[in-house]
Amino acid sequence: MSAPLTPPAAREAPTLRDSRPGRDWEALAAALRRLLSPRAVVRTGEPMARRTTLRVGGPADLYAEPADEADLLALVRFCADHALPWRVLGRGSNLLVRDGGVRGVVICLAQSDFVTVRVQGAEIHAGAGARVKAVAAAALQHGLAGLEFLEGIPGSVGGALRMNAGAFGGSTFAVLERVRVMDPQGAVRERPAAELPVSYRNCPLLATHLALSAVFRGRPDAPAAIRARLAEFSRRRWQTQPREPSAGCIFKNPAALPAGRLVEELGLKGTRVGGARISEVHGNFIVNDGTATARDILELIHRVRAEARARRGIELEPEVEIVGED
Ligand code: EPU
Repeated sequence: MSAPLTPPAAREAPTLRDSRPGRDWEALAAALRRLLSPRAVVRTGEPMARRTTLRVGGPADLYAEPADEADLLALVRFCADHALPWRVLGRGSNLLVRDGGVRGVVICLAQSDFVTVRVQGAEIHAGAGARVKAVAAAALQHGLAGLEFLEGIPGSVGGALRMNAGAFGGSTFAVLERVRVMDPQGAVRERPAAELPVSYRNCPLLATHLALSAVFRGRPDAPAAIRARLAEFSRRRWQTQPREPSAGCIFKNPAALPAGRLVEELGLKGTRVGGARISEVHGNFIVNDGTATARDILELIHRVRAEARARRGIELEPEVEIVGED
């Protein structure tokens, strides 16, 4: 029997204590390379700034891309056996990694087995590491409608499932048929979407389970009509959202009003800390001018929350996931 995986609560915010200071990461990486198939990628000290759309974040102690599900299982068991905290990275589009980086192991499902998208009838089968936009593109190619809103989501399928990501009135679970998940013990099961409770920007099961792949359902429609809707969503997105590096919306929309409008009403658009700035285009985006640190962005988040609380009595909750150490 293999040891159970690191409990998810311990994975959420790895600390130095979790991964024991003074671990020999090079030796652990070498052991992992021997364990995984030759196509797998294993590196130490991988800068997370390279792997997040905000372009900030220090290094991960150990970074691994398993080649297939067998590798993934071996990897999470290795982490359990060596008491290494781990977390999965999607496309890093909703993630703020602190400047000190991530202690433990960052797993990325970027290899070919995890990024395939194929269409069967009205079903679109996508690996957790596939880009959400690739799902929208496959739907268009096969004349399947209903997934056009995915065009507006910059992340991976796994990230979109975890967040029940949405745009332009659509949400991930509204078009999802079923999802294959790995539980904390490494057992894989397919679950119908209807069985999984979800809410605004949250699928709680995926805080503890790892999504491996998903099946979406479209409805047949004329490709020209689908293409027109995709183009319209894309146009609206580029008109209302900034082009500079960002993590999408920083805050969840509070009940009272959209966070972007609130930031605008508070007169905070354009506020700058170091290389980070609240976008003039959309108040719920923080953009990186290329020189920002995670600390700059966290300071901006802190200022917006403090102003919203003091002047409007509104508690803004970050939508981006904030991980790692200062
Ligand atoms: N608004 C302002 N000022 C601003 C920004 C927005 O007044 O600076 C107003 C808009 O005019 C509009 C309202 O606020 O009346 C809502 O704005 P928008 O249509 O841009 O939508 P949103 O609620 O800000 C949500 C999602 C986005 C998604 C868009 C498009 C959240 C937190 N955000 O934004 O998702 O792309 O709808 O459908 O739910 C993300 O999740 O990262 C994200 C960007």
